Amino acid sequence: MSQGVAPSLPQLRSYLPSDFETLYRIDQSCFPKGISYGRFEMKVYLRARGSYCLLAESGGNVAGFILAELAPDEGHVITLDVLENYRRQGIGSLLLSAAETEMISRGGHRMVLETATSNEAAITLWKKHGYRQLGIIENYYGQGQDAFRMGKDLAARREESAG
Ligand SMILES: CC(C)(COP(=O)(O)OP(=O)(O)OC[C@H]1O[C@@H](n2cnc3c(N)ncnc32)[C@H](O)[C@@H]1OP(=O)(O)O)[C@@H](O)C(=O)NCCC(=O)NCCS
Repeated sequence: MSQGVAPSLPQLRSYLPSDFETLYRIDQSCFPKGISYGRFEMKVYLRARGSYCLLAESGGNVAGFILAELAPDEGHVITLDVLENYRRQGIGSLLLSAAETEMISRGGHRMVLETATSNEAAITLWKKHGYRQLGIIENYYGQGQDAFRMGKDLAARREESAG
């Protein structure tokens, strides 16, 4: 059993090109081969027009990140990754909330994502944050690996931010 890292208040910041290798390795460790991104694919997403990436640092280490994009007025979570030793400390939730806030400020009306139908941890997290299942995409991650398409209307968050 892996030893968790003692919680310290995580800090969020934007991605810098010098973070690339760290993020690539985190993604490799968070997803099985075939689902994790290759270097080229990840660079394409990071450089895409309308994409942004936020990192969570804990005790000086990058503990996780979220990569999202706005296209054209709909937000899309490309990936949300938290290193195993830092999980269940609220870091995934912190990253998701910050990405939603950023999406609202960029004019996104809703956020959508795909998540493996077998990924119970992620599905629980999405639901906890108000995401609802919109449908199933068969074989999204390869033969027999289906995904739920999930989404959340950001209007409620927009009203909250407006106070
Ligand atoms: C899914 C993931 C991002 C969650 O990150 P995290 O930092 O542990 O999430 P949080 O601590 O903010 O958890 C928020 C809530 O999600 C749910 N949750 C998270 N992990 C869970 C698990 N393993 N089992 C059940 N529920 C879980 C819980 O409701 C949790 O609240 P609680 O801890 O108060 O019970 C992380 O497990 C991960 O990186 N997994 C591998 C990559 C992945 O699947 N990404 C998502 C798909 S793109």
